[in-house]
Amino acid sequence: MAFLADALKRVKPSATITITQKARDLKAQGKDVISLSVGEPDFDTPDNIKEAAIAAIKRGETKYTPVSGIPQLREAVARKFKRENGLDYKASQTIVSTGGKHVIYNALLATLNPGDEVICVSPYWVSYPEMVALCGGTPTFAETYLKNDFKLQPEDLEKAITPKTKWVILNSPSNPSGAAYSHAEMKKLTDVLMRHPHVWILTDDMYEHLVYDGFEFSTPAEIEPRLYDRTLTLNGVSKAYCMTGWRIGYAAGPVELIKAMGAVQSQSTSNPSSISQAASVEALNGPQDFIARHNESFKARRDLVVSMLNEAKGLRCPVPEGAFYVYPSCAGTIGKTTPQGKRIATDEDFVSYLLESEGVAVVQGSAFGLAPHFRVSYATSTELLRDACKRIQKACAALK
Ligand SMILES: Cc1ncc(COP(=O)(O)O)c(C=O)c1O
Repeated sequence: MAFLADALKRVKPSATITITQKARDLKAQGKDVISLSVGEPDFDTPDNIKEAAIAAIKRGETKYTPVSGIPQLREAVARKFKRENGLDYKASQTIVSTGGKHVIYNALLATLNPGDEVICVSPYWVSYPEMVALCGGTPTFAETYLKNDFKLQPEDLEKAITPKTKWVILNSPSNPSGAAYSHAEMKKLTDVLMRHPHVWILTDDMYEHLVYDGFEFSTPAEIEPRLYDRTLTLNGVSKAYCMTGWRIGYAAGPVELIKAMGAVQSQSTSNPSSISQAASVEALNGPQDFIARHNESFKARRDLVVSMLNEAKGLRCPVPEGAFYVYPSCAGTIGKTTPQGKRIATDEDFVSYLLESEGVAVVQGSAFGLAPHFRVSYATSTELLRDACKRIQKACAALK
């Protein structure tokens, strides 16, 4: 349509939202569908956080707030970075936005000029390249491989950097692969970045707290303090605190960047919801013990899903360190034929087959830039996961 902006022509709608909607539509038609496509915890927001929101409403905190967040929340964010990551940020170096997604969008809009490149690590979260394109930049890609458990190798990062690179987006634990970088693995990447002083680092630490088997999380500016002046450290309450619907994300970085992001926010959404901000103060300052309890469930589910998928014919599923996703390869199903006589040529064909034949919704790897794979979210009950994996095994066994 000629009326629409050129920038929009380059932007694809979110594949994860599309498949989740398709699964919802099929369910509404009465089909028996299990959706493993959504990226949110199935646990409810803890009560103390809900109570803090209700108290804020009762106190009348229902008006505009300062654009970049209420002082109590910016201070809580600064304290969180000190407490959990050993990073020194003043409250003025932090910003609170309407979800982590909005933080990234603000950062890109505030910094990208036409021709600027942003390196996305494949498989990447579906929104990174699309947001880069919407903000007028050029997404570029650094590949990872199953043989390295989807972890970016220093030489592949080095190869992806050009004189036009403005940002590299790192994401550990990763959506969609669940891969998380150890201190030593991340240090190899920060060593490369030390050699390229024109490249800024956007580290998306959204899944920081969702790690298993004693994995110790660390973030680039903590590992290499000399990168502090060109790192934006992003986090949020959506995943660890089960608050996806509250829409609060935050970041810390150099004050000039934070101010520029605030300027963008001031002319778009203004402040994030006052009530959600009050709830987030409680999330960051209040008890944290439920996170370990949730992680016990997530770990048991991960182990169940990995072992059942590895029993399915044609699939191969590594064990990721974190997040609530696994990213199996379906290479062994490519070229096979379904009982309905359709040939599986791509991972998209494979996920359509799973949905149509067995009512299991997962997302094709091509949406995340690395095929033939698919993403399974295990943020749902053990019973549903067991049922879904049995159905996947059945679908795989029926391929000839
Ligand atoms: C890697 C990653 N970063 C950021 C976000 C955005 O989170 P929010 O819901 O806070 O916008 C998501 C959500 O799925 C994500 O997976």
